[in-house]
Amino acid sequence: MASKNYKIAVIGGDGTGPEVVAEGLKVLKAASKKFGFDYKEEMFDYGGERYLETGKTITDQELEGLKKFDAIFLGAIGHPGVKPGILEQGILLKTRFALDQYINLRPVKLYNSAFCPLKDKGPDDIDFVVVRENSEGIYKGMGEFQNKGKPDEVAIQISYNTRKGVERCIRYAFEFTRKRNKRKKLTLCGKTNVLTYAWDLWQRVFDEVKKEYPDVTTDYAHVDATTMWFVKNPEWFDVIVTDNIFGDIITDLGAMIQGGMGIAAGGNINPEGVSMFEPIGGSAPKYTGKHVINPLAAICAAGMLLDNIGEEKAAKAVESAVIKIASTRMKSLAAGKMGYSTEEVGDLVVENL
Ligand code: IPM
Ligand code: MN
Repeated sequence: MASKNYKIAVIGGDGTGPEVVAEGLKVLKAASKKFGFDYKEEMFDYGGERYLETGKTITDQELEGLKKFDAIFLGAIGHPGVKPGILEQGILLKTRFALDQYINLRPVKLYNSAFCPLKDKGPDDIDFVVVRENSEGIYKGMGEFQNKGKPDEVAIQISYNTRKGVERCIRYAFEFTRKRNKRKKLTLCGKTNVLTYAWDLWQRVFDEVKKEYPDVTTDYAHVDATTMWFVKNPEWFDVIVTDNIFGDIITDLGAMIQGGMGIAAGGNINPEGVSMFEPIGGSAPKYTGKHVINPLAAICAAGMLLDNIGEEKAAKAVESAVIKIASTRMKSLAAGKMGYSTEEVGDLVVENL
């Protein structure tokens, strides 16, 4: 068997990012031995520390450099010493945009009912995926102040939705639903009753594209109702497609019903280019260096990365190992309450691979 040699860019980032990334890399290494593929990892120091020292977030040249990799593995961006927004926009969003990672894929899967805050819900009830548009919407950063600082000040923040951007996202979601082959149900999550420009476009494109997927059942839910169903009837969902800001909001709720930030992973996907995988929990500065942060979210992100580069078997094995650890060994998925250190959890996954 010809073994492949992938190039993986690693950005540990801030806070607990480097610690959880180290465990993800441990699992990647074990998976490569077991499944017979090679890879080279290259570490990058983009993040809050470097920004404080040099004033640099991530440069255009550095972004060009990232395009040469097969995938990017990211820990977390966010530093208590840097004003909110600078690193998020200057590194995370800039990378998503520059690499045209137009899908943010967030699986919401409960591995152990003991970790679910919802009464009477188990792993069969909570197993869906949110396909979040990742390149447009409010995140585009369009808008202006009028009369800034005056009593009659106006702040305008625009939701920017292109036909092309909406269509490629919706098309990806239909393809993904078909390929996932579970309940083959795709729910459009929006706000057609109030946001009558943006969501008119989304609804029209959705109705048009769905004609090409007669095997996929479709549904619509307003975003506010979606948050209600996440709590009341999460079993109704299979795949959800939504815009950038709604996807941001509902996936934090999704993370909570799947057991918390300790287990929630996501992928910033460019289906034709380089994708970036991350635990979605942030840099959790108060736990830095304490060896208590849960690395499973980062390990799940590494699993998604494997699936993305074409190592599906290895990806499945990583997920199975995580399921096993989460359902038989961990006392909790929360930092400091796992019954194990960060490193021990990484080791347990490797042993169960
Ligand atoms: C996420 C995060 C980011 C977002 C922040 C850090 C800019 O919350 O990945 O969901 O809003 O997209
Ligand atoms: Mn978020």
